[in-house]
Amino acid sequence: MRSAQPILAPPPVTTREGHRGAAPVSDEPPRVHSVGMSKEHEVGAAADLPPGKVTGAGPYAVGNVAGEVFAVSRRCRHLGADLAGGSIDGEGRLVCPWHQSAYDVHTGRMLRGPQGVYAKVPGLGLVFRGLTAVLPLRRGQVVERDGCLFVR
Ligand code: FES
Repeated sequence: MRSAQPILAPPPVTTREGHRGAAPVSDEPPRVHSVGMSKEHEVGAAADLPPGKVTGAGPYAVGNVAGEVFAVSRRCRHLGADLAGGSIDGEGRLVCPWHQSAYDVHTGRMLRGPQGVYAKVPGLGLVFRGLTAVLPLRRGQVVERDGCLFVR
């Protein structure tokens, strides 16, 4: 009989362009707790997630926009970059680390399409904004207990 395997974070994604997802935060397997029917992923100490910071917890990118903590699914809808390696811009949007698409962290919708060479493709930004209107990033619920953040 096979032994139980630890739940691991998704492997980094590599595109034909050589982009890679964010490196794992540590070698330790992520801490996952079961709460009723859902799983809870430990983010870490709330004090370690100050405004402007983004990190990863299981399948979520978790960040802090001006004191409000959010969680969204961590694969960019464009080419799958790990949004846990993204940043928060001056307008409070989650910005993809690869081509700087920008997401509304409340709705999961892309507000600005891919930049750089992709911004020159006619209609591409419109297509991805439309796609995320139908298939937005999944939003997670963040809870704090004893100074520690969890997402489910
Ligand atoms: S992978 Fe996110 S904008 Fe290209």
